[in-house]
Amino acid sequence: MTSSTVPLTLYSALKSKIETRQARVAVIGMGYVGLPLALLYSGEKFPVTGFDIDQGKVDALQQGHSYIYRIPAEEIQHARERGFGATCDYAALEEMDVVIICVPTPLDEHHEPDLSYIARTAEAMAPHLRAGQLIVLESTTYPGTTEEVLVPILEKENRRGLKAARSGSRGEGEFFVVFSPEREDPGNQTVERRDIPKVVGGLEERASELAAALYGCVFHQIVKVSSPAAAEMTKLLENIYRCVNIALVNELKLLSLRMGLDIWEVIEAASTKPFGFHPFYPGPGLGGHCIPVDPFYLSWKAKEWDFRTRFIELAGEINASMPYHVLAAVVTALNQRKKALNGAKVLVLGVAYKKDIDDLRESPALTIIELLQREGATVRYHDPYIPFVGRGRKYDLQMKSASLDDLGSYDCVVIVTDHSSYDFAAIVRQAQLVVDTRNATRGLSAENVVRC
Ligand SMILES: NC(=O)c1ccc[n+]([C@@H]2O[C@H](COP(=O)([O-])OP(=O)(O)OC[C@H]3O[C@@H](n4cnc5c(N)ncnc54)[C@H](O)[C@@H]3O)[C@@H](O)[C@H]2O)c1
Repeated sequence: MTSSTVPLTLYSALKSKIETRQARVAVIGMGYVGLPLALLYSGEKFPVTGFDIDQGKVDALQQGHSYIYRIPAEEIQHARERGFGATCDYAALEEMDVVIICVPTPLDEHHEPDLSYIARTAEAMAPHLRAGQLIVLESTTYPGTTEEVLVPILEKENRRGLKAARSGSRGEGEFFVVFSPEREDPGNQTVERRDIPKVVGGLEERASELAAALYGCVFHQIVKVSSPAAAEMTKLLENIYRCVNIALVNELKLLSLRMGLDIWEVIEAASTKPFGFHPFYPGPGLGGHCIPVDPFYLSWKAKEWDFRTRFIELAGEINASMPYHVLAAVVTALNQRKKALNGAKVLVLGVAYKKDIDDLRESPALTIIELLQREGATVRYHDPYIPFVGRGRKYDLQMKSASLDDLGSYDCVVIVTDHSSYDFAAIVRQAQLVVDTRNATRGLSAENVVRC
């Protein structure tokens, strides 16, 4: 059924509000994804409200402060002048026209999808739902989440008996539902967020059209797919593609080391092929909220279909083994200098999961620090973006970033994150021993450097 053959009242009212930038936009989850998105809409003159359960974040935003390194406080202050505000009070959702959900989707302790954040958000939203609102889920998740988890909670727990608009439905008491994945690449300065095409999959055509109109105000290209599940799967395909290819180069790095080949030289040469090859790079292990986590959303869901996703499992196994490879490399390098790791002083350089960002989530550095400590090393770290490492879901390190002044006092310096601000030549000059997991010391030939 096309949009022209169904009642258009709620649909056309919202469409016109979006087109005239009068639609009030709520973004739920003021984190790495939600806050920049809220600022983009505020920049486009939409009235925007950020929702979060973290009172500290809400207070910071209300006072014009930023808690994300790459977002300057001035950006929040400018948005505040344009009417942007933040709240913990879900009752304010009633006044909103569009609600974009950007809450976490981690794995639980059994490595299974933890949809509790989405479920709790839906439960909190439902009593304040209004007919004619557009609800968009952006959190990365397995195909089926929007229809099987989000929509049933919203439909069951709203007070007004509202239903999600579906193909062929004609009720007035409807709200529109879409899944649209966030595809940002934190720290990537080469692509503007607006230039990353936005994929939208509505529960039916009007929902997709509303989302296309909404995102079209910010993003240069909109890609409509046939359903929320297709949009959910699109995001997972992208991340699984990365995860599997990174595992492939990690495995080939291990083989290359054994064969005395430099995998980085090989990747550079292969990259000159003008078709059919896209470079991926090895490292100390996967990090971030996406690549180490998202593929397991699909492998979990696949079991419901009696299907094993072997590529995902194998890639996970190889990538998870990389911190152990780093540990072995440190042990061997110290051993060659007649030193033991037990009792050695080790500095881990860079703990963010990738260069030039302040995000520690799932960082392989955390595992590497724990493995080194377990073997009796005295470990310190330095990271210009992360002054303190406290407690996370899986670690409790309570460490402060060390100074770089006394590099020579460490038995070993391990480069885990190759932040651009590091002067690697100076580091190699001052350190007794450098174990480089990122090829950060390329071009420097020195006896105290071990690439692993
Ligand atoms: N960070 C990225 O680069 C990135 C990229 C693509 C996709 N994603 C996906 O986007 C989603 C959000 O990721 P993020 O990095 O922004 O996470 P985040 O942890 O930085 O932010 C999530 C925010 O949601 C808030 N929150 C949690 N439960 C809430 C609730 N019930 N109501 C209101 N707020 C709540 C948290 O307090 C936090 O501020 C995840 O699904 C992630 O996989 C992230």
